[in-house]
Amino acid sequence: MIIAPATSNTISKMATGRCDNLLIATYLSASCPIFFAPAMDLDMYKHPSTSNNISRLIGFGHIELPASVGELASGLVGKGRMCEPEDIFQFVSNHFEVLNSLAGKTILVNAGPTYEKIDPVRFVGNHSTGKMGKAIANTLAYRGANVELVLGPVDIHGLSPKINVTRITSAKEMFEACQTIFESCDAGILAAAVADFTPVKYSNKKIKKRENDNLQLFMTRTPDVLLTLGKSKKEHQVLAGFALETHDEINNAQKKLDDKNLDFIVLNSMNDLDAGFAKDTNKITIIEKNGKKHIFDTKSKKEVSVDIVNLLQNYL
Ligand code: CTP
Repeated sequence: MIIAPATSNTISKMATGRCDNLLIATYLSASCPIFFAPAMDLDMYKHPSTSNNISRLIGFGHIELPASVGELASGLVGKGRMCEPEDIFQFVSNHFEVLNSLAGKTILVNAGPTYEKIDPVRFVGNHSTGKMGKAIANTLAYRGANVELVLGPVDIHGLSPKINVTRITSAKEMFEACQTIFESCDAGILAAAVADFTPVKYSNKKIKKRENDNLQLFMTRTPDVLLTLGKSKKEHQVLAGFALETHDEINNAQKKLDDKNLDFIVLNSMNDLDAGFAKDTNKITIIEKNGKKHIFDTKSKKEVSVDIVNLLQNYL
């Protein structure tokens, strides 16, 4: 079933099940795949209520036909224009082509930050929101893979219901979960921002400021999940990681690719303004173990996930 245009009103009714017209009654009774093409004015499209409703629909397993940028009914120009009918046709045909193209494959993805506890109220963390890893997990699930997502302490919304999620908090828990799960996987894409250091000592009681003018935190290295999986990976297993760099990006990513025994690495540079933590877009370069480099334009994280999964599929 294709719902186009899906106005903010329709999307809201689909998300809440408010059945007051024939379209929503048909939608609520449909057992086939559901595609929806958002179409509305740009401010409505950007509103958090709309984003939440769209995430909910994706959470139901529905497929978004992404809105494009262009002239809107109001005369304004921006994002919210319905996907063109020929693009909808292409998108839906591709869907059925790629659907099940990863059936039978079990793939580990990790995403989000880890939190390293200092005391019951404080921790050391990072800015990761897990958006990139969650998008990869959704794209894999969309293609029929059994996805095992090990997810740090971030929002779980917007994930396909087909994904099996293991929640963790610390780097140690991330390490243990990934090591166990990867054993029975065909591939792994490790996108999490795992903390590299954790406090040596955890204080059971809140550290009181009146007793400490300065607080010195001694930290120790955490296990490197990707390095460990790379060392133990079997012949048939495909492994990919990320490299987040601020300088000498290609050389640093190449070194991680070699050291961690990866099939390919996805490089993000903190110098690209449209890439990085909490952004909805990303700009990546993929380096393969044979030295081949793929430089991509800035795209939505969803589109970036498709580029990454396409490459993974060549290896599988
Ligand atoms: N990674 C991991 N376990 C860690 C640290 C990193 O599995 N303890 C993984 C990340 O998920 C990513 C890759 O290693 O896929 C590279 O992470 P990055 O933060 O770019 O580099 P590090 O290896 O941590 O090295 P550095 O911080 O020195 O750049």
